Amino acid sequence: MALFKKKETETSALPEVLPKHVGFIMDGNGRWAKKRGLPRPLGHAEGAKTFRKILRHCKDVGLQTVSFYAFSTENWKRPQEEVQAIMNIFREYLDDVRELLTENTRMIFLGSKDAFDKDIQEKMLRIEEDTKDCNEMTLLLAANYGGRDDITHAARILAEKVRKGEISPDDITEKLVAENLYTAGYPDVDFLIRPSGELRLSNFLIWQCAYAEYYFTNILWPDFSPAELDKALIEYANRHRRFGGV
Ligand code: FPP
Repeated sequence: MALFKKKETETSALPEVLPKHVGFIMDGNGRWAKKRGLPRPLGHAEGAKTFRKILRHCKDVGLQTVSFYAFSTENWKRPQEEVQAIMNIFREYLDDVRELLTENTRMIFLGSKDAFDKDIQEKMLRIEEDTKDCNEMTLLLAANYGGRDDITHAARILAEKVRKGEISPDDITEKLVAENLYTAGYPDVDFLIRPSGELRLSNFLIWQCAYAEYYFTNILWPDFSPAELDKALIEYANRHRRFGGV
């Protein structure tokens, strides 16, 4: 296997075949905290540290598009205290754009911003604006995101265009649907990583993962490391993708 990395990282050789888009489901924060007798919010705080570390490593490795599932449309049902703790972690992260600028990373949110407090919505808009010219990597952060909501939202946009006579129903192709999803302009997910031992997609990028390779590990998200990511990428390079062909 050839050396690919631009910078020295903690493990040895990485493959030449890198996924164009890697998705991460950051699962297991609650269990990580529980195992240590800590309140769940501390698990999320630790998860946020791992998020920053893994994001940096994605950039070092040379990935171009990465998505992270931070908060689903269903997560609002969690206890108020836990939701508030996650919102405060967001606030803190969104206040510090330096890291993204230094890493030349663009940040885009997947999901409707409307559900967030006004100050968070403003921070989201500001960080998207401040990083819009960053072009080495794109971070798609799924926040108030649901795959079904994404497709429903696209359907509404297209129905409205039909209603106005801008397009006809026959113009609705897979390509047009994809162009109206939150991920418009970014490639489908090639490789989906879910730690924590759960074997499901949980409504994350369901359209975009149609042909994704899945990688599951029992490690809880706060313990997920750059070395684990390297291991996963090596496995990806050894899989044979057929896209329905032979
Ligand atoms: C799932 O683990 C995790 C979440 C619902 C929240 C994830 C949020 C973060 C990691 C913070 C992200 C912060 C930034 C800045 C992007 P879980 O609570 O369902 O874990 P469990 O299954 O063990 O209970």
